[in-house]
Amino acid sequence: MSPESSDLFSLCKRRGFIWPSYEIYGGVAGMFDYGPLGCVLKNNIVESWRSLYRDREGFIEIDSETVNPAPVFKASGHIDEFSDLITYCEGCREPFRADHLAKGLHDNPDVLSPKQLEELFKKNGVACPECKGKLGPVEEFNLMFKTTIGPGSSRVGYLRPETAQGIFVNYLNLYRYNREKLPLGVIQTGRGYRNEIAPRQGMIRMREFNMMEVELFVDPDNKDWDRFPMIENEKMTLVPGDGKEMILTVGEAVKKGIIANRVLAYFVYATQQLLISLGIDPERLRFRQHLSDEMAHYAADCWDAEVLLSYGWTEVTGIADRGCWDLSRHAEFSGVDLTHFRRFDEPKEMEIVAVRAKQKELGPKFKDKAKDITKAIESKQPEDIKNNSLKITVHGEDMEIGSEFFEVVNIKEKVSGERVIPHVIEPSYGLDRIFYSILEHAYNYDEKEDYVTLRLKPGVAPVKVGVFPLMDKDGLDTIATSIYEKLRMNGIECYYDTSGAIGRRYARMDEIGTPWCITVDYDTIEDGVGKDTVTIRDRDTKEQRRIRIDDVNRTVADMLRPC
Ligand code: GLY
Repeated sequence: MSPESSDLFSLCKRRGFIWPSYEIYGGVAGMFDYGPLGCVLKNNIVESWRSLYRDREGFIEIDSETVNPAPVFKASGHIDEFSDLITYCEGCREPFRADHLAKGLHDNPDVLSPKQLEELFKKNGVACPECKGKLGPVEEFNLMFKTTIGPGSSRVGYLRPETAQGIFVNYLNLYRYNREKLPLGVIQTGRGYRNEIAPRQGMIRMREFNMMEVELFVDPDNKDWDRFPMIENEKMTLVPGDGKEMILTVGEAVKKGIIANRVLAYFVYATQQLLISLGIDPERLRFRQHLSDEMAHYAADCWDAEVLLSYGWTEVTGIADRGCWDLSRHAEFSGVDLTHFRRFDEPKEMEIVAVRAKQKELGPKFKDKAKDITKAIESKQPEDIKNNSLKITVHGEDMEIGSEFFEVVNIKEKVSGERVIPHVIEPSYGLDRIFYSILEHAYNYDEKEDYVTLRLKPGVAPVKVGVFPLMDKDGLDTIATSIYEKLRMNGIECYYDTSGAIGRRYARMDEIGTPWCITVDYDTIEDGVGKDTVTIRDRDTKEQRRIRIDDVNRTVADMLRPC
């Protein structure tokens, strides 16, 4: 049975967690909508992620555009590199991911070229899995959705395939906001878009998906993290490039060179903390290092957090060392300086290679402009010289200055620092995948009782408390309504239910993962020890205890507080 036809999926649809998009028009593969409960659960995941990165680590958050002009993705490498190999059936015209058709025929189909895949299909008689028709040529298929910016415009734009680029193109603004200091941690959550060839894995491969990305800019020579000593003795399950699973402490992983540096290792572990706190089963979580041939074009090292699901081991987060790739490329393509000024403890005398204007030649030729031209020339670097000339702008006028007016010299200077391109460490979280993984790991079916409990962590559960009057009369309803309203006024999501036997009401709450139910019964209103008290029932132990009505808000808030 595929996960999409599982009991969990039908629960998700029936109870309003997720719905296939455009279902009344037959649906679109790889697209899902979040229902009311799904929305709250998703938002709770985002809040936990914010609390880790914004509140604990002190990172800042931005929200950038989802449509980007083409030069952004030319620079990032996505226009040239971000593609899968596709083949169409010549009979039914169905598209297929060529590497998927090669599974079982080659150890690592990802590394094969279009020609090699065509040969492999021919040799093994691979035909269309749908109609057995002949497969056409294998070609590159860029995964970005293309559009134009503005009506009738020829200005090409793309829907972003990752939120990360919105952070890189804002580096200068962010760097200034951070008073030109590193490290600089920036987070962004939002939609990403990938025009997947044949998404057949439910929420695991969506064409429009939600990301929570973190871009941490660090000095390339200082990949350390202040809080590393606090976690260095914690354990993680790692699968390094050689494929052998091992349990190591974070410190050992760095010492043995398995994880390249302390910042990367710290955020691999921070990811483990986050995923477990959200409800991922630690026994079904591991970190696998990318093989060099599966690494994205921008990554120098990458570790995937993988979760064991009914789909098999599935990537839910990638923690990559993107090195200086993004900023150097955007600097090159935009012509804007995207460096960090690394200040020395003491000014140093250094020999530097500099461009210097030839005053004797400039004066007679440029007269009163010579001073400003000199300044513009001397602000350039030797690498700015192209075809023996320099492009400068003086008083708004673009000029090309020939090599007779400048020279490259070695000079000794006292310098207070140097410019370096920051490196980027990127923990990138697939929000929809995490959402789905949490549900799979929380799903518990008691066959004997034919009873479903979603054991969601209280922090992420969409409804925290079910509130019921035992009977919808005799004043029990008035007290229950007042409890319900006071909880809501305190920001605690709750659900008021009067219909059916109390056991059915508990079952409805257990099925959506509500951790506690409060029932107002006749003891609440009758004189005796139970007067002005209600029962509070725990979803997982099914135990009930009585608490005072006046203590309800405090008790729930205390139970929700993270330990
Ligand atoms: N920014 C990481 C990714 O696109 O997967």
